[in-house]
Amino acid sequence: MRTVTNKKKDGFAAVIDSGVGGLSVVPALRAALPHEDFVYYGDAGNAPYGEKSADEVKKIVDGIVSEMIKDGAKAIVLACNTATSAAASYLREKYADTPIIGMEPALKPAAEAKEHPRVLVMATPLTIREDKLHALAERLAGEADFVLIPCHGLVESVERGEVGGDGIKKLLYGILAPNLDGADSIVLGCTHYAHLRGVIEEIAPGVAIFDGADGTARETKRRLVEAGIAKRCGKGSLTLKNSSPDPEYADLCYRLLERLK
Ligand code: DGL
Repeated sequence: MRTVTNKKKDGFAAVIDSGVGGLSVVPALRAALPHEDFVYYGDAGNAPYGEKSADEVKKIVDGIVSEMIKDGAKAIVLACNTATSAAASYLREKYADTPIIGMEPALKPAAEAKEHPRVLVMATPLTIREDKLHALAERLAGEADFVLIPCHGLVESVERGEVGGDGIKKLLYGILAPNLDGADSIVLGCTHYAHLRGVIEEIAPGVAIFDGADGTARETKRRLVEAGIAKRCGKGSLTLKNSSPDPEYADLCYRLLERLK
């Protein structure tokens, strides 16, 4: 009997971010697609994307996607709001045969959770500059008041492994405190910020926090099933890769993944 292998189906799903941020999406992806092999690529050597221009981010992410597809990726998950805003449309056109799933900041679930809430949207400066977030906020403008907050410095702190303690609390307080009056919810519009959820909860007790991890995982599953390339059996795997020059960076990744459990 001849065994026919489906090359596409046997490939892996690449998960890409500028560093450790996208790890916060990995548990939801693995729960939604337990049979898949995921390769996570943290581009720490180029972080932070959010302080670069859209063209720079497009070029960098294009290079990673092209390598991943050459290595056997059957789908790409941009576990990065900044890369999604700057590059997703371009990449979808260029790699039309490969499903490319991006992050959608959770403005809709936040808007729907309460009667016309005031929603603080935390994102990188580049995400805030790009049209995608503004278009989404405008579409939902009748349902909530959105306050878009560019957050400088947070990604760098998380990349150093600073996800708790006085320094990061002070930085976050400075960003959030001026906007907290009357706020019902906070949207984490950058995957790095999910690692800071505990500190944000301390600063904004009782304020609901939303991120895009579950939505992205659901959409990834939908796209893989629709394309007929989702694996239906076998134990899935996770491989971590990064572009950091620091040999201890992998330890940080494992520590953060452990905290997400
Ligand atoms: N984690 C990324 C995001 O979701 C970007 C972080 C960066 O600025 O590099 O936006």
